[in-house]
Amino acid sequence: MHMGLINRYHQWLGLPELEPVTLGEGNTPMVHWATWESHRIWLKLEGCNPTGSFKDRGMTVAVSQARCQGAEAVICASTGNTAASAAAYAGRAGLKAFVVIPNNQVALGKMIQASAYGATILAIEGNFDQALQAVRDVAEQESWIALVNSVNPWRLRGQETGAYEILDGLGHAPSALVLPVGNAGNISAYFHGFRRRNEGIPQLFGIQAQGADPLVQEHELDEVKTVASAIRIGRPASAHLAKEAVKESRGQFRSVSDSQILRAQEELAHGGIFVEPASAAAYAGLKVLYQKRLLPQGDVVAILTGNGLKDTQTPAMWASVEPQIVKSQYLTESIGQFMNP
Ligand code: F0G
Repeated sequence: MHMGLINRYHQWLGLPELEPVTLGEGNTPMVHWATWESHRIWLKLEGCNPTGSFKDRGMTVAVSQARCQGAEAVICASTGNTAASAAAYAGRAGLKAFVVIPNNQVALGKMIQASAYGATILAIEGNFDQALQAVRDVAEQESWIALVNSVNPWRLRGQETGAYEILDGLGHAPSALVLPVGNAGNISAYFHGFRRRNEGIPQLFGIQAQGADPLVQEHELDEVKTVASAIRIGRPASAHLAKEAVKESRGQFRSVSDSQILRAQEELAHGGIFVEPASAAAYAGLKVLYQKRLLPQGDVVAILTGNGLKDTQTPAMWASVEPQIVKSQYLTESIGQFMNP
């Protein structure tokens, strides 16, 4: 039975009395991937959430809260995953969903998802940061419409549950946590989750994509470019919280190149774990940190934020979509040739 995060962690979330809108989010697998010298490497598969990304942890709380306060609709700006998650939870709650995306910048699978759940998709000519500003303005003017981006504090509270699950799974805090950073909400939520539980805080490493790495460059960017469309963000709304989290935990921000991201995606997939490019950035960053001897000893957890099926066009850059055509009566011989090329 899946009780959903609000009931499971109500003791820690400390939310006001509300009727949960849940799709059975959370409780995602944490896989022991490898041991590299003194580092035990764990991968938390957030793509196993109901809509295929970590956003569901926050969305169950934000949408429950919005419905409880009498909202008729939710709105968000998104690079795709927030849109899909908001659409699903709004559908479950009987609310309308409006999602605002940067035109031609969102993976097709996420668009289809949001649309299938019944959301209205609105595209602007501009980037994510402009879309976020626009929806903030709308939510400020219209009290019946709730903003469910991670600037909504209920979203971040829900996303703290990722930290709770790691603590409950390992029995203690890991020594390091590596995660991809876009709008910078998730890294901040993990930090607060560990802090609330008071069982130790891992060093936090925030990984950005080169070309969209304002936290590494230490200034906002107007132009952003990376293959990892989910984290193509130049003005992270929660930058101040993320900087505090990284500083206080003695971690750092780093960036990885598109080719490092694609190679990491391929390596994970060949090991049975198919994630989207933004999530592969975390693994690429983890490898760089290991090679540069920056990882502390002990348990190291990487958060793989989204499912590979969300964006199938990008991995087609390295995975062949052309099948090998064979004759059925010669199947055994053909297989033999692939075994011993
Ligand atoms: N990984 C994935 C798969 C994401 O979709 C996002 C953000 C992040 C990492 C970064 O998380 O923003 O909390 O630092 N996606 C948002 C969206 C922006 O609209 O779906 P963050």
